[in-house]
Amino acid sequence: MTTKITWYGHATIGVETADGYKILIDPFFTGNPAASTTADKVNADFIVVSHGHGDHVGDAIEIAKRTGAPIISNYEITNWLTAQGVEKVHPQHLGGGFKHPFGYLKLTLALHGSALPDGSYGGNPAGILLTTNDGLKLYFAQDTGLFGDMRLIGDEGLDLAMVPIGDNFTMGPDDALKAVHFLRPKHVIPIHYNTWPLIAQDAEAWAKRVAAETEAQPHVLQPGGVFTL
Ligand code: NI
Ligand code: MN
Repeated sequence: MTTKITWYGHATIGVETADGYKILIDPFFTGNPAASTTADKVNADFIVVSHGHGDHVGDAIEIAKRTGAPIISNYEITNWLTAQGVEKVHPQHLGGGFKHPFGYLKLTLALHGSALPDGSYGGNPAGILLTTNDGLKLYFAQDTGLFGDMRLIGDEGLDLAMVPIGDNFTMGPDDALKAVHFLRPKHVIPIHYNTWPLIAQDAEAWAKRVAAETEAQPHVLQPGGVFTL
């Protein structure tokens, strides 16, 4: 029984659960200089969009239409997606969880913005806490600044956290290190860096600090890289 995590670059993540469900988070391929593949080549049973920004909504509409995968997001974004012709959506909101076929997915707090690409209101941005059917706890912080309630998310007993380190739009390396202290995950993978010069970071240097100063095991992936647990 293994769960496979693929980092496609930026904040685009694929989760393949031990029971075979493919969940695609923030599918940004077109126009993403760091993307390891293209939108027409990825498969999904479910898509999750954390917030309205273009580098997170990305290719969600096109992939949903091609694959028939429902899109899970906040209520405002799922309404907007429906207006764009997406047939299957599942609205949730911050603090709310739902037992999907692939596991229990809860939207968590994120400190960020969420306007949609056409300027429409995108509700509140979210992080994603997924409990798989075999009990793994996976936290995808997506775009956020540091916040103290990450301690509460850490109380869940995380097997994996994926946290932004890019700075400028999200936590930078120093705050992301504090986030690892709050979250106390077994494993941590940095995201949302090196896509553009504005968010260039030395992930290996950050991983060394995580290894030296926390109990978490850091894993630096290259775009397209896979981590299994
Ligand atoms: Ni954003
Ligand atoms: Mn972003």
